[in-house]
Amino acid sequence: MKIAIGCDHGGFELKEEIITFLKAEGHEVKDFGTYSKESCDYPDIALPVAESVVSKKYELGILICGTGIGIGISANKVPGIRAALCSDTFSAHATREHNNANILTLGQRVVGTGLALDIVKTFISSEFEGDRHAKRINKITEIEKKYYK
Ligand code: RB5
Repeated sequence: MKIAIGCDHGGFELKEEIITFLKAEGHEVKDFGTYSKESCDYPDIALPVAESVVSKKYELGILICGTGIGIGISANKVPGIRAALCSDTFSAHATREHNNANILTLGQRVVGTGLALDIVKTFISSEFEGDRHAKRINKITEIEKKYYK
């Protein structure tokens, strides 16, 4: 699978662990930075990752910051992005199955590496169930159309 990944300084170490894990599993990973623990602004990373997913260059995205919140709020401003913050594996598969989430966000200061890798594994191996959930996703798109001109 082609996966886009990014983080701010608060998620740098976890991003490196996830990249190593995904590559070992045979996935193609594009790292959008940040590339060190030096302070940076999470919207600057969320935007290129979100755009690469919306344009279908990458199938799914993963974004990490200290909490997973700021970087997820930023990504969700891009029409077509459904970024979901997950701190447990149930949410990770439910958000793919029900919300067709296309970006996973994680908080490095919230979850340990072992749990984070399980969440990643679960998220990328789960699929959208469509059906009754599709009409709800369409309603999200309608909200975007109303406010994004
Ligand atoms: C950076 O200190 C921190 O605010 C950021 O990583 C994130 O947690 C914001 O939501």
